[in-house]
Parts: sequence; C-alpha cells; structure tokens
Amino acid sequence: MDKYFRLINREHPLPENYIPDNLTDIGLPFDALPGEQKRLLEEKTAYAVLELIARSRREGLNLYCISGYRSYKRQAELYEESRSAVSYVAPPGTSEHQSGLALDLSCPAARMELTEAFADTKEGIWLAAHAPLYGFILRYPKNKEQITGIPYEPWHIRYVTKPLASYLSMTGLTLEEYHAMENPVEIS
Ligand code: DAL
Ligand code: ZN
Repeated sequence: MDKYFRLINREHPLPENYIPDNLTDIGLPFDALPGEQKRLLEEKTAYAVLELIARSRREGLNLYCISGYRSYKRQAELYEESRSAVSYVAPPGTSEHQSGLALDLSCPAARMELTEAFADTKEGIWLAAHAPLYGFILRYPKNKEQITGIPYEPWHIRYVTKPLASYLSMTGLTLEEYHAMENPVEIS
C-alpha cells in the first residue's frame, strides 16, 4: 500500500514510535516561527503545498499554513490540553498530523484561526475547489462526520497524491469509504 493512501484514524492508529523519514521545512508561509516542529511536512507533501500556495497567491488569495507535522508526544500534550477546550483534538496515534501528510490552513479573513468561519472566506472556498488538483483532499467534510468520526474541518487537508485525490473528489468518497471498498479502484 502506497504510504500516501494510508488510512489513519481511531481504528487505524500510527505506532507511538512512527516518525516520517523525510520531514522537511522548505520555507512555506507558516504562521509559526522558524524551528517550530509544526512547520515540518513530509517532503512530497511540502512541495505539493508549495504549488498550491503559489497558485493561490497568483489568484490574489492569502492562504497561510498553520500546522503541519506533530509528533506523537506533541499530539498527546494537545490532547490533554484540549480536554477542557471546545476544539476537537484527536487522541495521540490517531492524528494524521503525525504522518506529515496533513496540514491545517487559514487566512487573515478568518483571523488565522481554525474555525468553521474559514469555509466561507474566499480562501476557504478556493481551497475546497482546488485542493484535489494538487493531490489533497479535505479530509473531514461536512455531513461525513459519522464516517470519519471527526467534526467538519474545512481547514484540514491531507495529501493522497493527485490520482487518488481526483478519484475521491469525483466520487465524494472519504478515505474511510475508499478503504472499505471490496474492490478498490486501482490507483497508480
Ligand atoms: N483535529 C484533528 C482531527 C487532529 O487532531 O488531528
Ligand atoms: Zn488538522
């Protein structure tokens, strides 16, 4: 199985010691200081984000990266902190951020926050329409909460390669539904 197709959720967690082997900071526009762990992404993912952001800038949009890679340990800390907060944080091992393949984005119009308001900004609307062209899916769509087990997150994209991203966007399937297919379409 291609690592980019991997399903990561509560039923399919990553091992505690899983660290992607090619994490990199290529200087993407992050709302984070140099050296911060969350600026890291798996290499192919990082270059796909670079193309996506470049295109969005050419169209006059102000997308910013907020959070990429998170270690198991960091996810565990956030999970503990979130117990008293409203925001949803996946338990350690079950977050796609540990894979380096997931990224949260926002924009000044949404005050650089990760809230549903992002979906209605020009940037959020553009991201939903264009992410698959660069190999990403909106991983936690509205009305699929029962299937993904995660509330709607218009800011969270997951790299799955261009062929799988276009297949999922054309069919409207989540990654859970794709993996549950008895005869999954061959994606190469
Ligand atoms: N907010 C997403 C589900 C995470 O913590 O990975
Ligand atoms: Zn996320």
